[in-house]
Amino acid sequence: MNEKQRLESTQINPADKKSEKDFSKYFQAVYMPPSLKDAKKRGKEEVTYHKDFGISEEFKEMGKGRKFYIRTYGCQMNEHDTEVMAGIFMALGYEPTNGVEDADVILLNTCAIRENAENKVFGELGHLKALKKERPDLLLGVCGCMSQEESVVNRILQKHSFVDMIFGTHNIHRLPHILKEAYLSKEMVVEVWSKEGDVIENLPRVRNGKIKAWVNIMYGCDKFCTYCIVPYTRGKERSRRPEEIIQEVRHLAAEGYKEITLLGQNVNAYGKDFEDISYGLGDLMDEIYKIDIPRVRFMTSHPRDFDERLIEVLAKGGNLLDHIHLPVQSGSSEILKIMARKYSREHYVELVNKIKEAIPTASLTTDIIVGFPNETEEQFEETLSLYREIEFDSAYTFIYSPREGTPAAKMQDNVPLEVKKQRLQRLNDLVKEIAVKKMKEYEGQIVEVLVEGESKNNPEILAGYTSKSKLVNFKGPKSSVGKLVKVKVSKANTWSLNGEIIEEAVGVK
Ligand code: 5AD
Ligand code: SF4
Repeated sequence: MNEKQRLESTQINPADKKSEKDFSKYFQAVYMPPSLKDAKKRGKEEVTYHKDFGISEEFKEMGKGRKFYIRTYGCQMNEHDTEVMAGIFMALGYEPTNGVEDADVILLNTCAIRENAENKVFGELGHLKALKKERPDLLLGVCGCMSQEESVVNRILQKHSFVDMIFGTHNIHRLPHILKEAYLSKEMVVEVWSKEGDVIENLPRVRNGKIKAWVNIMYGCDKFCTYCIVPYTRGKERSRRPEEIIQEVRHLAAEGYKEITLLGQNVNAYGKDFEDISYGLGDLMDEIYKIDIPRVRFMTSHPRDFDERLIEVLAKGGNLLDHIHLPVQSGSSEILKIMARKYSREHYVELVNKIKEAIPTASLTTDIIVGFPNETEEQFEETLSLYREIEFDSAYTFIYSPREGTPAAKMQDNVPLEVKKQRLQRLNDLVKEIAVKKMKEYEGQIVEVLVEGESKNNPEILAGYTSKSKLVNFKGPKSSVGKLVKVKVSKANTWSLNGEIIEEAVGVK
């Protein structure tokens, strides 16, 4: 019996826990901490697809008169998980609220990618402690990637014992059970499966907005780059079936959504786990190309799996946008090797050339880590020279952060933090220099913008993004929100463009 079956077969009678005698039995059932050792395993078991999610009668009244609040950290995958959890809360009868003050349940949906992401969560827990003291009935939960880490769960158990529940990325569909147990139990409920994971379809969700939507196409990652915690926190690669994805995209199109982003930790590995069909991301994009939705993006790509079929399909254009986020991580083949990225600088450049040849308008953005263990000055300079050679539109840049349990965390590191910080600064200066140059080229040009709403700083100004993900602030009528419009760029800033609307509601495709 695996841990999931064991848990599901545990019939907990709430009355049991009241008697001391049976308490240990109950507690055992609600205490299932993560195991890094299990999370590392990759087996040959087929992925099981579940379509039977439903809210059983026993949970239906749980949320009546109660409000929930979810704070999300980290990537788009987490944002989308939050939409699913919000959907489950709503199905349980809870109502959403915009602040912690009047929430009856607060969840922190956490990110484990770097230490500073984790520090933010521990800081927030510090703040919430006071609230929990004031209102002991408040339920406080930690979920997301940090809950998959043994060290985090131990730290919460020891130092933040006021937390009521911890559950993992594979346990989201178990939220009704976890909440019920948390209401009944005086102890912290910990339910984190480290198993490889199935695919659960038909979970409810409340999407954040009516213009853009996330669509998961796959879960997990099998790449095991030596610095990265994701393969441990998100399990093995599991692709959703194409027909499920296509149906979801059709629904979104019918509901009037204008843009979708296909999501996965390594979207280029989409379909590699199918045993019965040979079907990849290129094939999926080719189907989605035919659907009447104006904009389709995908993220995040891994250069190793980015194949010719995908390039060929993207070259068709139409609703498939010409912006590709292609994390390179380093410009040094030696560092790439130690990172276990499984491509060299030369391979990366070759891939970019192929993309640019097939899609001349393509813009590229990337992710870069500086200060990987023992990175030399020369190796870092190779990153700078690659950046100059490719001329990325922009980049997310990070100082390497050791993640417990990953191979890189065990490496000796002779690069002082001060040097890492200087390298980050030097890289950021270059990123900015090239961004300024590229943005300048837009001055006087006409761009197509999907209007998202008022600009952050000025309600008189509207804001939206171009197909290449450039933020555009412009004067225009409020009626254009949710539409694709043409804007003439009057001024380029480093990270945004200013302009004026010249045409409302541009036709699709
Ligand atoms: N330290 C620093 N940056 C990291 N990333 C992933 N793991 C680490 C780490 N341990 C970066 C990579 C990845 C992005 C999402 O986060 O650049 O592409
Ligand atoms: Fe962070 Fe990665 Fe988890 Fe996203 S998948 S929340 S980036 S650790």
